[in-house]
Amino acid sequence: MEVKIFDDYNTMSATAADIIIDCVKNKPNALLCFPTGNTPLLSYKLLAEKKREHHIDFTKCFCIGLDEWLGVPPEVKGSCSYDLHEHVFEPLGIKELQIHLFTGITNDTKAECRTMNELVRKHEGIDCLLAGIGINGHIGFNEPGSDISMEAHEQLLHPTTLASGQNYFRAATKLEKGITLGMAQVMASKRFLLLANGTPKAAIIKTALEGEVTNQVPASYVRRCENSIVLIDKDAASLLENKWN
Ligand code: F6R
Repeated sequence: MEVKIFDDYNTMSATAADIIIDCVKNKPNALLCFPTGNTPLLSYKLLAEKKREHHIDFTKCFCIGLDEWLGVPPEVKGSCSYDLHEHVFEPLGIKELQIHLFTGITNDTKAECRTMNELVRKHEGIDCLLAGIGINGHIGFNEPGSDISMEAHEQLLHPTTLASGQNYFRAATKLEKGITLGMAQVMASKRFLLLANGTPKAAIIKTALEGEVTNQVPASYVRRCENSIVLIDKDAASLLENKWN
């Protein structure tokens, strides 16, 4: 694990965008995995700008989504599918043929998971996976207490995730379960970028980086991952005691 602490959200986001671009330059047919949420929004904007400015070719890469709210249709703003199209795929000009996302509307989540697991295997793993961190320490929808050895799975959502999840929707939305890539796939990624900014993330960043490595805090497993880079701004880093930079 490498930890990089930045003066602000802007430089943190620019670095995340640069790492994704380097990944695609080195491997044009890379498998990329994207989360939703507020944290990566500026990285996505800068990624699209840098792509245009430097003529980076994303036409051969393949993209997957980290997770999805079960029961929420893809045309609803706030679903991971809607938000990834709006903030990542449309700005980058990624075509539908280059995308596979979990669907929130399914009565066979096992089949959904199987399809995703097979796709990841067919691509010989994820080349670059970006993730945010929940204030409860979740990665994707790998919630506190979830089995770290799992691949894609359905997950009952933690109360904190259910509460903060409402903020992504225009109206109150029934949320209960999610579908997510598992920590086994996150940790096996050739690049695992964990992003956090702002003081509300300071406590969980301290717990994840300096507390015990435990499945009660799935993000703490970032430390067991050789290919991980934690990108945080100085507010999110404000409670850290070790010298990381
Ligand atoms: C979303 C996801 C979540 C978020 C996390 C942080 O696809 O996987 O784990 O990354 O909840 O959300 P924000 O960035 O909104 O603080």
